[in-house]
Amino acid sequence: MIYSRIEGTGRYLPSKMMTNFDLEKLVDTNDEWIKTRTGVERRHLAGADQATSDLGYEAAKKAIENAGIDKEDIDLIIIGTTTPDYVFPNTGTLIQDRLGIHGCPAFSVEAACSGFIYALSVADKFIQTGGTKCALVIGAEVMTSLIDWSDRNTCVLFGDGAGAMILKPSSETGILDCKLGADGKYKDLLLYPAGPSKDFKKIGTGEAKLIMSGSDVFKVAVRTLGDAAEEALKANNVNKEELDWLVPHQANLRIIQATAKRLELPLEKVILTVQDHGNTSAASIPMALDVGIRDGRIQRGQLVLMEAFGGGFTWGTVLMRY
Ligand code: ACO
Repeated sequence: MIYSRIEGTGRYLPSKMMTNFDLEKLVDTNDEWIKTRTGVERRHLAGADQATSDLGYEAAKKAIENAGIDKEDIDLIIIGTTTPDYVFPNTGTLIQDRLGIHGCPAFSVEAACSGFIYALSVADKFIQTGGTKCALVIGAEVMTSLIDWSDRNTCVLFGDGAGAMILKPSSETGILDCKLGADGKYKDLLLYPAGPSKDFKKIGTGEAKLIMSGSDVFKVAVRTLGDAAEEALKANNVNKEELDWLVPHQANLRIIQATAKRLELPLEKVILTVQDHGNTSAASIPMALDVGIRDGRIQRGQLVLMEAFGGGFTWGTVLMRY
């Protein structure tokens, strides 16, 4: 059996930080409301000269260093992002160029907040089928580029960041199962309705804005994530109490608490970072994983469940023995 095993992880948050108190000066909101409803205390914003590839590059460098590999060994780059630098070239190739490596396939996967879990699942398949020996998988976003800073319903939720990992084949431990799902019937509940082939000119003019039906998203997210997590365990004959760590998409503390409750998992077994950076979409899971691994909580051999949910809707789980 070949597993995809994590050899190293890295994360990057831009230096510019905005607290809930800073937001009080922009819109009619307050720290207490934001913390109680979402768990978010602060978020980081990409600098004017920073695009998604810049954030992804910084996280990738740290993952490469942490894995102790030669960057020339990388033979696959996949990035989950919904905020690419350009229409093309894809952000994976931009990071490949920044790293100074050449020739390996590099591409982006677009699945909103589930983008990293989708990208990781694809990389896992590349490794399992024998071709790939060293994959760089990234989740990176500049979500604040989509934000209308006068809309209190959405501007308090999001932030920018990037996380990355190096994956290699192993006969010992690694990814046990990936499950992905989507249901386009929910497309109108969470969307940014402009892109290259539709209403492109509205982007950047304030005419296009992120639309979210918050309480509807909340309800479907809680139900779907709970179902997906239980399905992942059941399909792999894992009992709830065997799980060592939950590494969830960091969108909202209350959604995370609901999933933990469904798994009968105390919050001490959940990696929580939403307070430090808000919803960074595809970047949130690899960043949280990096936090848990680097601070020593997630140990080799432990059972970890990652789970994501995002616009589309899309969702996914990855069960692994780290
Ligand atoms: N500050 C103060 N008041 C606010 C703010 C704000 N920033 N935003 C909304 N309100 C007000 C509303 O106007 C409303 O006022 P009203 O009762 O006078 O009309 C009141 O607060 C309650 O609004 P609700 O939308 O019902 O508040 P809710 O408890 O549902 O919380 C939230 C809103 C946090 C968006 C919640 O619905 C949520 O987390 N939804 C999930 C959406 C999510 O996480 N999206 C991220 C992307 S999807 C994903 O990654 C899973």
